[in-house]
Amino acid sequence: MGKVASAMSMSLDGFVTGPNDSREHPLGVGGEVLHDWLGPAATAEDKEVLQEMVAGAGAILMGRRSYDFCVGEGGWGDGGPAGDLPCFVLTHEPPAEAPKVFTFVTDGIESAVAQAKAVAGDLTVGIHGATAAQQALAAGLLDELQVHLVPVLLGDGVRLFDLLGGAPVNLTRDRVVESSNGVTHLRYHVDPR
Ligand SMILES: NC(=O)c1ccc[n+]([C@@H]2O[C@H](COP(=O)([O-])OP(=O)(O)OC[C@H]3O[C@@H](n4cnc5c(N)ncnc54)[C@H](OP(=O)(O)O)[C@@H]3O)[C@@H](O)[C@H]2O)c1
Repeated sequence: MGKVASAMSMSLDGFVTGPNDSREHPLGVGGEVLHDWLGPAATAEDKEVLQEMVAGAGAILMGRRSYDFCVGEGGWGDGGPAGDLPCFVLTHEPPAEAPKVFTFVTDGIESAVAQAKAVAGDLTVGIHGATAAQQALAAGLLDELQVHLVPVLLGDGVRLFDLLGGAPVNLTRDRVVESSNGVTHLRYHVDPR
């Protein structure tokens, strides 16, 4: 079986979006800077990190807010965040219609991870979305945590680590890639509890 890894771009003050994220501003107002390293500002180091993620991905898992902000025209078009790669969406109420790469999961994180792992086989299930990633961590289902640390302080927005409660989660640093544009790509193994 492949691993389950969350991969999120985060500001130095812990936000994965700026304030007021919406369909118009999926990364919040001013939060677009978080994904500059995936676009025109990408350095050779960024491209290598991204290529490794793309090559290793077998399925994606996200929450309904991430889906709603980017699905369809003006976002992912006819596919998902990675074209035809299967994508599982946690939700309480599936939409009436959706591009065929999406499967909606209404019975919780354990079920969503199990379904995504079954499809991904030996490849990685990539978790996008702060709520989904934290649920996987809290349930002991996350093997790896990738934080793409962007040198900006956003001050407000969606936090990556605000729902974990009091129980510590121990991590072992696995790799650090320092990009010349200031982004630091951090990768940790999640230690067994
Ligand atoms: N910085 C980055 O790299 C990055 C990457 C991906 C996304 N983002 C951004 O992060 C934001 C989204 O993150 P988020 O944490 O706010 O939301 P999210 O995880 O994308 O979605 C949360 C929603 O998913 C549904 N959900 C979650 N867990 C569920 C469960 N166990 N059972 C049923 N439904 C469940 C609920 O929606 P319903 O109740 O409506 O069904 C919940 O409100 C977006 O702005 C997105 O653009 C940033």
